[in-house]
Amino acid sequence: MMIKTIAWKNNTVVLLDQKALPLTERYITCRNYQQVISAIKDLTVRGAPAIGVAAAMGAALGAGKLSALPSEKFRRKFFVICAEIAESRPTARNLFWALERMKKCLDYAINSGKNNLVQELVSEAKHICAEDIAINRKMGKNGSALIAAGDNILTHCNAGALATAGYGTALGVLRAAREQGKKVHVYVDETRPVLQGARLTAWELTKEKIPATLITDNMAGFLMQQGKIDKIIVGADRIAANGDTANKIGTYSLAVLAKEHGIPLYVAAPLSTIDTAIKTGAAIPIEERSSTEVSHWRGVPIAPPKIKVYNPAFDITPARYITAIITEKGILKKPYLKSIRSLWKDQSAR
Ligand code: MRU
Repeated sequence: MMIKTIAWKNNTVVLLDQKALPLTERYITCRNYQQVISAIKDLTVRGAPAIGVAAAMGAALGAGKLSALPSEKFRRKFFVICAEIAESRPTARNLFWALERMKKCLDYAINSGKNNLVQELVSEAKHICAEDIAINRKMGKNGSALIAAGDNILTHCNAGALATAGYGTALGVLRAAREQGKKVHVYVDETRPVLQGARLTAWELTKEKIPATLITDNMAGFLMQQGKIDKIIVGADRIAANGDTANKIGTYSLAVLAKEHGIPLYVAAPLSTIDTAIKTGAAIPIEERSSTEVSHWRGVPIAPPKIKVYNPAFDITPARYITAIITEKGILKKPYLKSIRSLWKDQSAR
């Protein structure tokens, strides 16, 4: 069974509304790029790879309105639309990567004299979507080598099918392990403040009958001390050239605890999440989200109205805490600067 997060359908973008999960399974239809921007901002669609796919499809929707323009003007307006979509969230590398790819696609189409630019952009967006699932499957296969039958694995946030076009990154590794007949059990961090773990990861795992136990974030250290966790696997929003990784707030705390307890921590992410232009995690932009995500739950206050709130959505896990980075091209080991660089050289040689 494949969870469908995002699809291009009759010149619209159809998104599984992740805000409504796990209570309601409903889809929303975006008919213009502004609606896609809102959906990215309000977490209807979230998770770095899914944001990238949504951005590409949003750009293709925007292009649809430019079809009557001469190519120069089409290009100018399309680049403005891409810049607007790029403002939707700051941390996930895949957002910017996907938009760059759409712009390159347009330039190529113009330079090679294609007469239907919109069609070229729609098919590129669909291609990015299909490619994401294929990449996740490869990543899953590579990462499953690190998983042993009977493992108890802790995960944080949702790096599953919902965070991608399908199959997932961190959860993709667990899906692949299960497809190979390895039985695993997953501890799911609820992941405050927006509860992507409790609402989304728990939903995905339950739906696919993968044994899972939900815990609150502050229980993770105690479970490690009790010897209940064999491995930790998480996704990533952006990975710097040295391997420092931005992921959902709370990942850093897990990584420090993991080191103390000698538990391996793996990051599973596609190459499109790696930002080689950024040297270290210190330069990764960290999104700060609305204070109401912390002070309220579904509109109901859970804190006194005048309390000050700080709500960074991500944190940086220094590369030294990361045992390995699982990608579609293989498993990267320390020193990441070297392994990422050689992977990149390999890529651009193709
Ligand atoms: O704020 P979110 O829900 O978009 O944050 C998502 C995460 O932090 C995920 O772990 C990350 O994007 C990897 S998803 C494969």
